[in-house]
Parts: sequence; C-alpha cells; structure tokens
Amino acid sequence: MEVSNNIFYKCASKKTPELDGQKIFKILAKVEAEHASVWKKILKLENVKYPKYDKCASEYKPNLEESHSREDRAIKFYGQAAAEAKNERVKEIFQAFVEVETDHLHLSEARLK
Ligand SMILES: [Fe+2]
Ligand SMILES: [Fe+2]
Repeated sequence: MEVSNNIFYKCASKKTPELDGQKIFKILAKVEAEHASVWKKILKLENVKYPKYDKCASEYKPNLEESHSREDRAIKFYGQAAAEAKNERVKEIFQAFVEVETDHLHLSEARLK
C-alpha cells in the first residue's frame, strides 16, 4: 500500500499543472516512501520494488480525489491493524500511522472544498 501510494504521488507531482499540487504530492511521495521503508525494516523484507507508474491524472482535482481515497484506505487499514494488535508497542505504531495518514487526508480535503 505504501509503495503504491508513493508511486501514485510521484506521478501526480509530475503531472499536476498547479505548483501547489506538485509540492504537496512531492512531499506526500516522500513520506509514503519513508513509511514503506519502515515496514521494510520491521518486516525484514529483502527488496521492495517500486514499479513505474503513469496512470495518475493530468489535472489537479482528480489527483486530489485519488489522494483522498488512498489516504482514507490507509487510515482504515492502520486503524483495523491497531484494533487487532495484541502487543501494546505494535498498537502504538499502527496508531501513529493512523495520525500521519489523517494529516494527509486533510491536505486533499482542504483543497477539494
Ligand atoms: Fe503512508
Ligand atoms: Fe499517506
């Protein structure tokens, strides 16, 4: 999920004409890549592939809408994981991710109004 979000945001930061969009999508791409690398470490994954991706829109609004649905999915996923976690520390990690992804959701929400 984090890799998929990273490659979407990289695409969106390149194809969105508005500078504001280029900036926020670039920042989001960076944060999602950091999330992917956290999971890579925790899960001791050997190599994580970042496929080439160019299926994002060339306009700001549809990219904001896709950002909104991706962040909504991330919040639900981490929220569920936090609820199911048996270990307190693991629960805290998932909850921290819910908070960060909620901040991301607000970026598109504020711009879609
Ligand atoms: Fe993330
Ligand atoms: Fe996010």
